Amino acid sequence: MRIGILGSGLMGGKLGTIFARAGHDVVFSYSHDEKKLERLARDAGKNARAGTPSDAASESDVLLLAVHWSRVSDVLRQAGGVSGKVLITCALPMNTSDTRLVVAHTSSGAERLATKARGAKVVSAFGTVPSEVLFGVFARRRRKTRPSLLYCGNGDDAKKVVARLIRDVGFDPVDVGPLKSARFLEPFTLAIAHLAYEGRKGPEVAYRFEWYKGGGA
Ligand SMILES: NC(=O)c1ccc[n+]([C@@H]2O[C@H](COP(=O)([O-])OP(=O)(O)OC[C@H]3O[C@@H](n4cnc5c(N)ncnc54)[C@H](OP(=O)(O)O)[C@@H]3O)[C@@H](O)[C@H]2O)c1
Repeated sequence: MRIGILGSGLMGGKLGTIFARAGHDVVFSYSHDEKKLERLARDAGKNARAGTPSDAASESDVLLLAVHWSRVSDVLRQAGGVSGKVLITCALPMNTSDTRLVVAHTSSGAERLATKARGAKVVSAFGTVPSEVLFGVFARRRRKTRPSLLYCGNGDDAKKVVARLIRDVGFDPVDVGPLKSARFLEPFTLAIAHLAYEGRKGPEVAYRFEWYKGGGA
């Protein structure tokens, strides 16, 4: 797949590197530091390169949105048209001090994003995992028992694409339903972050969801 990374920080930097190492073509974009984008591309190998958000959008079929909620409008403006693209969001709709969700319960960041990014096929994924575990999970990806990764979205084709990427990173994709399920997923994601950084297990926290995997039995 051709994947554009919008936001090359902790999540975008690691996921873009893994996507490139898994064989996908990756464009890293959106950082204060162009040299950092070039360094990331070099480290990720021959399938990766650095570019602008506009390059990332025009040269990709799949985009990963990995910026703070306060930067979403800016990065989308710089990206230009995203219509027709699969737009994966891992962004939690947090306030600028990261103390609370600014969209919750009756809507979600993912649904708001779908109204901003007109025509894009928005799928919420990768938000439920702390970035620190990503390389470790990728390294162990051939194991039978894999941690679950929850995702939701409306288009079946877009969800198939995202499920494949989730497997490539080393997780078992667990479909939690349509995009409006992000209303439940985002507060859950906040709970995962709380467990990871304030609980006793640290960022290694991972989980398995047998109930969903068993087809909701
Ligand atoms: N970190 C996690 O474990 C984790 C887990 C799940 C979900 N998330 C979500 O993922 C999203 C990204 O989180 P993150 O931890 O990856 O954040 P981050 O490390 O701060 O990455 C954000 C990226 O956006 C770039 N950026 C910010 N403002 C910019 C500006 N004005 N101009 C150009 N580039 C700018 C940053 O540039 P620089 O490269 O210069 O810093 C960085 O590359 C957030 O919405 C968060 O809720 C994070």
